[in-house]
Order: sequence, then structure tokens, then C-alpha cells
Amino acid sequence: MTAVPVALGVRPPAARVADGVGGPLVDTFGRIHRDLRVSLTDRCSLRCTYCMPEQGNEWLARTSILTLDEIERVARVAAAAGITTFRLTGGEPLLRTDIVDVVRRLARIEGPDGPVQIAMTTNGIRLRELLPGLIDAGLSRLNISIDTLRRDRFRDLTRRDRLDDVLDGIAAAAESALTPLKLNTVAMRDVNEDELIELVEFAVAHDAQLRFIEQMPLDAGHTWSRERMVTREEILAALSERWRLTPVPGRGGAPAETWVLDEGPHRVGVIASVTAPFCGDCDRLRLTADGQLRNCLFSTTEFDLLPILRGGSDDPDRELDAMMRGCILRKLPGHAIDDPSFLQPERGMNAIGG
Ligand code: 5AD
Ligand code: SF4
Repeated sequence: MTAVPVALGVRPPAARVADGVGGPLVDTFGRIHRDLRVSLTDRCSLRCTYCMPEQGNEWLARTSILTLDEIERVARVAAAAGITTFRLTGGEPLLRTDIVDVVRRLARIEGPDGPVQIAMTTNGIRLRELLPGLIDAGLSRLNISIDTLRRDRFRDLTRRDRLDDVLDGIAAAAESALTPLKLNTVAMRDVNEDELIELVEFAVAHDAQLRFIEQMPLDAGHTWSRERMVTREEILAALSERWRLTPVPGRGGAPAETWVLDEGPHRVGVIASVTAPFCGDCDRLRLTADGQLRNCLFSTTEFDLLPILRGGSDDPDRELDAMMRGCILRKLPGHAIDDPSFLQPERGMNAIGG
């Protein structure tokens, strides 16, 4: 990681923000930001209990949702400032009717080091019909969420009876040219903790890499508790009953730690956001569907881009660049979920973007 130059004659980051001068997006801890998570909508075809309420969700006003042109404008400024990957999320990104155009327009963007990469996190519903168009438009990577393979559990957890649609989406992705395919599973006490091995076997059968995620306090019902969470240690203990796990070195800034299963080649990952936070290497910045920049999933401050995008600014690109730098400079060292003073963000995960 490159440190921020602090030498006589080099202006400190704050002065550079005021000037809106270029260079990579570096925060006060020297973390360079390369990954922009773009939430395209807060709507979803499911209602996972750890993410959304069953009813009465307060949806974002449709008029505040960024248009394709606005998303592209922000993305171009971000790429010029060194963002190399755009991860499209939601809610459910495939619910955007212009999703193929979003991918096509963003995939055309080039940063200082060449073309950007477009990744997507989806629940898989409608993926089979949309995938050819998405690949043609330039999608390079896919993460699909799957928390259980049992129909009754799926219905209870997501409050929708759509497991078959998700499985069909995963099958389509596994047959496609997009590799490596990643599957995400939130490990949950009394919900799917007895299914961890089956889920990995399912992933292996699809040539995919499963990543277990420790549940984070982002649910609308504020029911999360540290005591009930299934931890990284518990996940590894359960998997060790079935496989010999060999750690894969060289994680870099990636959220997941990975292990090779037996002799390989298949792997499993764990994203231990709570018990082993990876904030020290975080290179992620977030854009909500209604144009708010966030420097962390858990930040309680947002940076509103709508006035710049819609307010008739004389030089919107320069102002967007300055806003991005200001947002990053205010990034804290970590989320401190385990700290007693931790405050859960007001928005649920569906309105922040994973
Ligand atoms: N804790 C951990 N992971 C979550 N996700 C959604 N809400 C939570 C939470 N509270 C996951 C989804 C998806 C990804 C975008 O984030 O399951 O895989
Ligand atoms: Fe939808 Fe993902 Fe939230 Fe589940 S976790 S309700 S699939 S946005």
C-alpha cells in the first residue's frame, strides 16, 4: 500500500480536496480506494429477514433514484480517480429495467490503467434470461446469494417461495463463461447452521466458490446480537469435520479469507466482518441508489451527490471529484461493531448496497 506523501512542499490531502486535484482516492490512513459499490435500487424480489422488514419498508422516492446518465457520470469521475471495479448491487440490481444498459455504459469506461471491471451481486432471480445480455454488455464477475437449499427454509428466510428461481439462476451462471462464480451465504444460528457442509458441496458441484458471511447488524428489525451470530471459528470447525482446510495466502484487500478443500482445486471463503474485521485493508466506497456516497457500510454520514448532479453546477465533474475525496478523507479506521458505542446505520442493507 502506498502511503500519502507527507513532505515539505507537498500539500496535505485536505488542501488537495479543496482544489479538486487528481491522484488516487487515498484516505488519512493511507488506504487507496479502487472499488466502488453501486446500489442500483433499494427494491428486491425477496425479503430476507436479516436485511428488510416483511412489510412497511420505506422505499426511496423514485424521483431520487439516479438515472443511467447520472450513474455513468459519477462512474467516469470515479474511474478517473483510480476506481478500477464497479460492483453493482441493490436491493436486487436485476430489478432495474435498464440493467443491461447500465452494464454496457459502465463497462466502456477506461481509467488511467485501462478498462474497468464490472461485477454484480444478485439473488439470481431472472438471471437465466438476463445473463446473455449482461455478458454481451461486458459483465465480468458474478456473486449470487444463497443461504439455504431447503425450500421451506428459503421461504421462511426470504418470505418468498422462489428457491427454484434462484437455483435456476445459479445453474445458468455456472454454465456461463463468467468465472470464478462466487456464492454468498450468511451463516445464521437456528436457520442454516446445520447446512454449511451441504452448501459447500452444492457450490463445488457448480464449480463455484462459496463464501460464508458473518451476519452483521444491518437488519431493519434491529434483532442482531453478537451472542447469536455464527462466528468464523464455528464455521471453520463445522467445515473441518468434512474437509482438510489449507489457508490460501495473499488475501490483499479482499474481504474473504480462503481455504483449499482437501487437495483442491475447490475453495471455500469466510468473510468474518465482525470477529476478524478487514477494515485496515478496505478499498471500498459506496454509492446508494439515491446518490449518497458512503465511505463504509456502517457510516452514519452520507455525502449527497444529487445537488451536484441536478443542481446545474458549472463544473459537476470537478465537484463530484471533490465530494468523493472529502468523503474518503472522513473515513474512520474501522466499523467497531464489537464496541459498546456502535450505532447501527439507519438504512437497511437493501438501501446501502452489499
Ligand atoms: N449481514 C451479512 N451479510 C448480509 N447481506 C445482506 N445483509 C447482510 C447482513 N446483515 C449479504 C447478502 C448478500 C450480500 C450483498 O450481503 O446475503 O450476499
Ligand atoms: Fe434482497 Fe439481498 Fe436484501 Fe435479501 S439480502 S432482501 S436478496 S437485497
